[in-house]
Amino acid sequence: MSERAFEHIVVTGGAGFIGANFVRLLRRERPGVRVTNVDLLTYSGNLENLAGLEGDDGYRFVKGDVGDAALMDEVLRDADGVVHMAAESHVDRSIMDSRPFIVSNVLGTQTLLDAARRSPRKPRFLYVSTDEVYGSLPLDKPEELFTEETPLQPNSPYAASKAGGDVLVRAAHHTFGMDCVTTRCSNNFGAYQFPEKVIPLFVTNLIEGKKVPLYGDGKNVRDWLHVEDHCEAILTVLERGAAGEVYNVGGNNERTNLELTHSILAAMGKGEAMIEYVPDRLGHDRRYAIDARKIKRELGWEPTRSAWPGALESTVRWYVEHAEWWQRVRSGAYRAYYEKQYGER
Ligand code: NAD
Ligand code: TYD
Repeated sequence: MSERAFEHIVVTGGAGFIGANFVRLLRRERPGVRVTNVDLLTYSGNLENLAGLEGDDGYRFVKGDVGDAALMDEVLRDADGVVHMAAESHVDRSIMDSRPFIVSNVLGTQTLLDAARRSPRKPRFLYVSTDEVYGSLPLDKPEELFTEETPLQPNSPYAASKAGGDVLVRAAHHTFGMDCVTTRCSNNFGAYQFPEKVIPLFVTNLIEGKKVPLYGDGKNVRDWLHVEDHCEAILTVLERGAAGEVYNVGGNNERTNLELTHSILAAMGKGEAMIEYVPDRLGHDRRYAIDARKIKRELGWEPTRSAWPGALESTVRWYVEHAEWWQRVRSGAYRAYYEKQYGER
């Protein structure tokens, strides 16, 4: 297994939840590698997630759209690695309006692939995909898991747009011999997650004395992985993954939404009365569950920070202790931070 060393990695979507955690990991664990973060700063992009890196010579922020071909040519000119995670990421928003998902996740991915192909250094291209591309598993067959060979059967517009990017990456490798690798990860939790996703939404609602809206019967199952484990997996695949391969990433940590909600309530000293059952999400996938044996067997990665309930409890604590962060996110005030740091561009 050969290990690659990088000089300059471009991260897309680095101002989002996973991106910010990944940029921080790179600066901490690979201080010799220059990092350029390209992010459009949509509603979920927040430079406050990267506070403290402003004076860091090895880090550069570029505000931009991965769908802007000229800008991507410029940004990727001397990159030897690209970690592509810029995306519209929330299923409920994709149900309300799928267009931005197709624009960023499908067209944006192809634009970035084309720029990488034109780039003189022929950077390795890692696509951060999701287990949602596989569709849904039944609740009554717990032995069934998604493997890398499971057919792609996305069910939501979000999942379909991610699957679109996923197969475009496959095609770029097959047709042009590009050095591409793909990760497909389960649900993440941890610091800096936009409070529309279930864990930060529920925790921040409870802090504010509001109920938590549980969809349907609460029996849908997700496999929860701490974001820092995901980021370590991305770095592992970037440095050691085989070109053209897909690696599943999961926490082996399946919970029903009701179990998750009870754990959050317990961590916050709140009772069952705070649950409000609300109508189900349209097309709500029943169960996601990942078989992550390949990445363990071939690359030696396994989760170390996702153990339940400790990892959930420390995440809950992070939101309790960072009320200023999520209150600014919820009120929209975080957007002014960018203008203060970088001016109107
Ligand atoms: P997020 O919404 O917190 O962050 C997305 C970031 O992408 C934001 O900073 C946003 O400004 C940026 N962005 C969006 N469109 C852009 C564009 N056209 N050009 C440049 N930047 C753009 O999402 P996240 O949860 O951090 O997810 C990051 C990636 O990981 C996504 O690709 C998502 O599909 C994937 N993923 C997420 C999870 C999860 O549980 N959150 C699990 C598996 C995979
Ligand atoms: P979410 O965090 O949106 O992630 P994903 O849809 O990508 O898995 O939702 C996680 C689970 O929580 C999903 O089964 C839907 C459920 N959910 C609720 O019950 N209530 C909510 O308000 C939200 C946002 C999600």
